[in-house]
Amino acid sequence: MVASNLLLLIGALPSALALVRKGDVGKLPALGWNGWNTYNCNISDERVVNAAKTLTKLGLKDAGYEYVNIDDCWSVKSGRDEKTDRIIPDPEKFPDGISGVADKVHKLGFKFGLYSSAGTQTCAEYPASLDKEDIDAETFAEWGVDYLKYDNCHVPSSYEDEYEYCEADTFNYGNYGNHPNGTCPDIKDLAPDNYDWSKSKTAGRFRAMAEALEKQDRVIMFSLCCHGHAAVHEWGAEVGASWRTENDIIPHWYRVAQILNDNSFKLNYIDFGAHNDMDMLEVGNGDLTDAETRSHFAFWAAAKSPLIIGADLESLSDKHVDILKNKVLLEFSQDGKHGGPAVPYKWGFNEDWTYDPKHPAEYWHGKTTKGRLVLMLNAQNQLETRKVSWKDVPGLKDTSYNVINGWTGKSLGCVSEVKAEMDSHDTAVLLVGDECSKSKGTVKLTSDDFE
Ligand code: GAL
Repeated sequence: MVASNLLLLIGALPSALALVRKGDVGKLPALGWNGWNTYNCNISDERVVNAAKTLTKLGLKDAGYEYVNIDDCWSVKSGRDEKTDRIIPDPEKFPDGISGVADKVHKLGFKFGLYSSAGTQTCAEYPASLDKEDIDAETFAEWGVDYLKYDNCHVPSSYEDEYEYCEADTFNYGNYGNHPNGTCPDIKDLAPDNYDWSKSKTAGRFRAMAEALEKQDRVIMFSLCCHGHAAVHEWGAEVGASWRTENDIIPHWYRVAQILNDNSFKLNYIDFGAHNDMDMLEVGNGDLTDAETRSHFAFWAAAKSPLIIGADLESLSDKHVDILKNKVLLEFSQDGKHGGPAVPYKWGFNEDWTYDPKHPAEYWHGKTTKGRLVLMLNAQNQLETRKVSWKDVPGLKDTSYNVINGWTGKSLGCVSEVKAEMDSHDTAVLLVGDECSKSKGTVKLTSDDFE
């Protein structure tokens, strides 16, 4: 999509509603753990319970991580119980059933999450919930499920949408798929301008499960895993508390940058109870450098994405645990007064509003109870310097403020500007507090100041 079109589109968007749900569930971005990014289908009662124990041991529970979630592959693959029509928990992976593992997770002080799909099968081809919403919602509620991740695989042709949705296919490195710059010259059945995707069959499939969950005498947070299809960001808030905006994350910087770039064009929809899900965290996974890991976590938190840890907790390094516990970023994510995300105020490397999966916007700010969160990303492949003067940040004045370095938690004092020399793909996180008078002027940070 060219820059001018994007501006028009964003200008035309209504701001997201501040949604109120049963028990306020999903008001703030979910914090938790999910086994998929580490174990894929090799999940078990033991692994889930260990994850809950390790979250506590590492201090992550105290930091606010509250959901322990099972992803795909938890059931008997061959089919439902013939008599009850219920999905059957895999007796080898979960000898005490799903209710058994849910009980253990609850006893350890966590909430429990499960997974299904708005299709005939899950993505890994296990039984799923399309046309079985009521029986499944009832079963999940009875088992003690507090969070349902609902995927979008195996959709029968009778449920296909009337039109195709043009999405920026950014999955491949250096290749914008079939849709260069978010345009879809190859798609014949594109929806007419202003088509209301909330009326699509895709929205209907997700809404059916939302309604079934609503009927249960249990608060279950609904997390849509719609991969950005059917403009889910336009109607997701009406159906659930969060919605995946993209295909799957992988633990490499190019993918993190693609998701960050794509998400920066969908920020108007985020508010209390309404969150773009940028996918589960890869902190501790793959080949992300420490700098890249910091940026990944910082921008997921700043964009108010759910923060669902995807690592094997027992092998997480202390450095990664510290990143996941970062106080300034978690406070921003969980701020009870300001529901909106941080947004770019300047692209930096590119002209403003440039869609560039390799170089996302670099200069961001967001309101918090404690002042203003300001982030500066070095999207380039070498050491670079980035600078912020407060007068350039919307809402801040041409004066000095008391500033905290978000990575160390240490005060930088009363400063008028911050100049940061940063490793490739690192991010400076600054908490800008009260105005002050005895200014030190410009403060310089080097890469040593980021941990
Ligand atoms: C994908 C989903 C992943 C994971 C997987 C399970 O569609 O995006 O996060 O849930 O299915 O098969």
